[in-house]
Amino acid sequence: MLSMYKPDTATVHPCGKLSGSLAVPGDKSISHRVGMLASISAGISRVQGYLNSSDCVGLLRAMEALGACTMRSKDDGFAIHGTGKKILEPSGALDLGNSGTAMRLLTGLLSGFSTPVTLSGDESLRSRPMRRIEEPLRRMGARIQLTGERGCAPLRVNGGNLKAIEYEMPMASAQVKSAIMLAALFAKGTTTIIEPAPTRDHTEQVLRMLGLPVRVDGLTISVEGFGPEGPPLKARSWSIPGDISSAAFWLVAVAANRRSSVTIRGVGLNPRRTAILGVLERMGAKLKVHMDKNARDGEPVGEVRVSGTRLKGTVIGGEEIPNLIDEIPILAVAGALAEGETVIKDAAELRVKESDRIQSICQSLTALGVECEEMEDGMRIVGPATIHAPRKPLPSFGDHRIAMSLAVLGMFADEPLTIRGVECIETSYPGFWDHLKGLGGHVEQY
Ligand code: S3P
Repeated sequence: MLSMYKPDTATVHPCGKLSGSLAVPGDKSISHRVGMLASISAGISRVQGYLNSSDCVGLLRAMEALGACTMRSKDDGFAIHGTGKKILEPSGALDLGNSGTAMRLLTGLLSGFSTPVTLSGDESLRSRPMRRIEEPLRRMGARIQLTGERGCAPLRVNGGNLKAIEYEMPMASAQVKSAIMLAALFAKGTTTIIEPAPTRDHTEQVLRMLGLPVRVDGLTISVEGFGPEGPPLKARSWSIPGDISSAAFWLVAVAANRRSSVTIRGVGLNPRRTAILGVLERMGAKLKVHMDKNARDGEPVGEVRVSGTRLKGTVIGGEEIPNLIDEIPILAVAGALAEGETVIKDAAELRVKESDRIQSICQSLTALGVECEEMEDGMRIVGPATIHAPRKPLPSFGDHRIAMSLAVLGMFADEPLTIRGVECIETSYPGFWDHLKGLGGHVEQY
């Protein structure tokens, strides 16, 4: 029998320079939204660039349990045969693996249906806060039972008969905003959501591409409800750009290495996702951005060329945080390699991501000999540090973005750096190690 063994340990070697060009895999946030809506549309949607990662394929498995039919297509995408807004009652709980986006957005969407569904996930997902979606969805009329410990999943959704609400969000979260927006499509009346700060707007874009009525006025988003029948949803084709959150690892690895130069093609450049480019420029990075003339499905896309230099420290905080929240682990790496102090603040949301990222970043940097002070809402890092690879393997904390950030640090270390628990990289970046090797890095996996 063929073994299904997947390497979970990697040793990354110090690396002289990185060069070449690559296209990162599809955007994870957009893939989730398109995957969900295509699954309940009428007809077959062809999705080019859908992220073939465990989080996004796991979402498609869940949508299949609700009645959709999905197939990998030859052109590196998926064909999704939607249910035409009917959903089946699954026989058991749907396992959403590690994906907070899948759990929160699907809870919003399922709130529009009267079919009861239970959603669960891995240990990390079952420890992430879900009251933040339960509260507004309950006000709309859905019954959400949080059956896990301390307001966590597994959660049971019993929806239908929703009413529109006005909701002032207590935190900047695209997932909470999106859960409410998806439910709002099935409510009577206009739902209004007020954000404390701008967050990624892929749900707004995807709903607009489907011809649905979404209005945005500054920080206020209004969605016109269609009542229990839900909105008209017709299959269409989609083209998903590369994920800037995946490109971020190479942007930092190259920007901090004076001999390196790399081009990233076909990457999504939605202004609500590109705050990392501004931060890297403040740190002195040499970046050239070319927007493609033909934006894909309302989402700007283009090429980023980065070449290495000596980075300097900066302060990252305030309204830019939601627009680079997933890039903070790798920006902390940039801070460790930069001259002077880097301060990350206003980022307490990091404590409730796939791991407590403030703790996992600070523990990892400290173990590598970097001066790093943990704060309640961020950290202070002093660079440029000499990265000392410890003898013992470093843990990934089961967090894909920590694992990849450590891999980048390994390329700057004095000795080969071993990372344990790298399988989680599959949740967002299949092909990560091939890309590292393709650019000139060296890694052993076992
Ligand atoms: C996401 C929003 C962010 C981000 C997550 C994906 C999305 O979470 O961290 O990886 O797809 O909407 P929050 O909105 O909870 O901050």
